[in-house]
Amino acid sequence: MPNSSDFPVIRPRRLRRTAALRRLVAETRVHPADLVLPLFVKEGLHEPVEIGSMPGVYQHTVDSARKLAVEAARAGIGGLMPFGVPEARDAVGSAATDPEGILNRTTRAIREEIGDDLVVIPDLCLDEFTDHGHCGVLREDGTVDNDATLARYAEMGLALAESGADLLGASGMMDGQIGYVRTALDEAGHTDTGLLAYAAKYASAFYGPFREAVDSQLKGDRRTYQQDAPNATEALLEIDLDIEQGADIVMVKPALPYLDIVRAAAERSPVPVAAYHISGEYAQLMAAAEKGWIDREAAILESLTSIKRAGAGIIATYTALDAAALLR
Ligand code: PBG
Repeated sequence: MPNSSDFPVIRPRRLRRTAALRRLVAETRVHPADLVLPLFVKEGLHEPVEIGSMPGVYQHTVDSARKLAVEAARAGIGGLMPFGVPEARDAVGSAATDPEGILNRTTRAIREEIGDDLVVIPDLCLDEFTDHGHCGVLREDGTVDNDATLARYAEMGLALAESGADLLGASGMMDGQIGYVRTALDEAGHTDTGLLAYAAKYASAFYGPFREAVDSQLKGDRRTYQQDAPNATEALLEIDLDIEQGADIVMVKPALPYLDIVRAAAERSPVPVAAYHISGEYAQLMAAAEKGWIDREAAILESLTSIKRAGAGIIATYTALDAAALLR
């Protein structure tokens, strides 16, 4: 056996010895300002209702959404992503473009409540508003009509811009949606309303709890428009297309199962990269923590740190308020 003095042992452990040393050399820091909180607002509710598969996350009333927005601003998080759950649905998602529809009302209420203290990013998609639950309008044969959907997205985008959105979360995965909505916004003079493009959005089993959160009407799946899990090169094409068409921010979704895509996006993109730590990722953490199988707080911070380390400067997460408190 050699003597340890016979060769210079390189000792990376030196910098791990104390918490202060580890903090000093940390390569990645998550800050509350990096975090965006998604929230659900349901028409016709009288009080918030907890979502069974997402403990700690609620379907809100417009009023409780206002309070949450104030809390989020105090916590110093970066932004809010409201989703609307309407009372009435139809084939084209009429409530999405109605200025009095739930998402437009919520967007105005939040804006009125917090001014410019938070970035407000309502979801630009039809799935919560259609009676079939798809992200677009359907042809007679039941398939999603890409180009007819673009026209609906443009109308919805204009309504949300008029309601005071900073950015529109374009999550529908229709081809050409970013360029189409960008042009419509510009033509209407909404040149300052930005687009957060869900550029690489995968058809994921981990969206399950979200479907409960928005009372989703979907039967079947979204595999003809959302991406297929095996494909990474295709994600690069989607990201490039959205950037070419004017995306202000590109997002990868889900986050933890797709960190390779987050890394690729960060290496490639000249615009900021976001990742969405989605409902099923949240549900897994909460369920395991409830059973006492993992440490909830440590698992939240490790998840967010990993997403940031992979290259996402912005993280949409249902843990935003908890994380902000832990990071303070
Ligand atoms: C579609 C949309 C979905 C999510 C965000 N926007 C659902 C889907 O594509 O089926 C999922 C978010 C989550 O799971 O947390 N508008």
